[in-house]
Amino acid sequence: MPESMFGSGLSALQFKNFTELIWQESGIRVPEDEKDMLVSRLVKRMLALKLDTFDAYYTHLHREPSEKIYLIDSVSTNMTGFFREPKHFGFLKGDFLNAIRQRRSGTGSRKISIWSVASSTGEEPYSIAISVLEGLGSEAGWELSVLASDISTSALGRLETATYDEIAMKGVPEALKKKYFVPAGSVGGRAQHRVVESVRKRILGRRINLHDKSWPVSPGFDAIFCRNVLIYFDNSAQKELVCRLCGYVAMGGYLVLASPESIMGKKCGLELVTPGIFKKVGTCF
Ligand SMILES: C[S@@+](CC[C@H](N)C(=O)[O-])C[C@H]1O[C@@H](n2cnc3c(N)ncnc32)[C@H](O)[C@@H]1O
Repeated sequence: MPESMFGSGLSALQFKNFTELIWQESGIRVPEDEKDMLVSRLVKRMLALKLDTFDAYYTHLHREPSEKIYLIDSVSTNMTGFFREPKHFGFLKGDFLNAIRQRRSGTGSRKISIWSVASSTGEEPYSIAISVLEGLGSEAGWELSVLASDISTSALGRLETATYDEIAMKGVPEALKKKYFVPAGSVGGRAQHRVVESVRKRILGRRINLHDKSWPVSPGFDAIFCRNVLIYFDNSAQKELVCRLCGYVAMGGYLVLASPESIMGKKCGLELVTPGIFKKVGTCF
């Protein structure tokens, strides 16, 4: 069934119906100027399902609730990279760990828990774990756990493989590549690299939809990374999300936003440390 059989695209009503459904399920707004992207992704899925009209696919989405996961997967933008915004990872190695050492001193606890709320294909949570482990060096006794969540099941599948090609590895300094990755063959002539077990075991992958009314997690994270995902939500959803996340950060812990999204953190008992990094100093409500 060639792609051209689907005609010139979605009607205005069909576009509205699909984008409303996507918004209700995920909070993601698909703007009018991304209609072509939506069409091409819907068509790809429809070809796989052998459905030949957009209306047939829309009906199918309502008959098969699990199909909504594919729909959201198809519109989520998973662009990411290792050590994206390097200053955030420098912060983890330095000031963040110093603050934790102080907060934990005399408590008997040496646990560090971090949540990457839109972890995409894993580069962000693995960069977090590597940075903290590098910062701890040979200091013994610390227990690090990183919750890596995303709405996209295909992105989470990549996170589970923990295997990246040469292009993805570009952001990883050579010394860290040698220390934290092992060669994992090649695919299509491209060398693959797998994150070592000592880092992988710190990561827990989960599908969590930030738009859901409740999340299956307990509060008290030492840091939450919520980077490059707020842009997909509308203004009121962005504000609500920042406040909700703030409730999951431990007092004295940090919320990390992408620098361009930094402005949204100026509330909720948060104090700006440096662009994108906020310290929780009070409560939100
Ligand atoms: C551009 S990537 C950002 C990845 C990473 N945080 C970074 O900064 O490199 C955005 C991610 O947000 C995820 N996402 C979008 N809407 C979401 C939602 N409602 N709940 C959870 N994740 C969502 C997408 O699946 C995608 O993996």
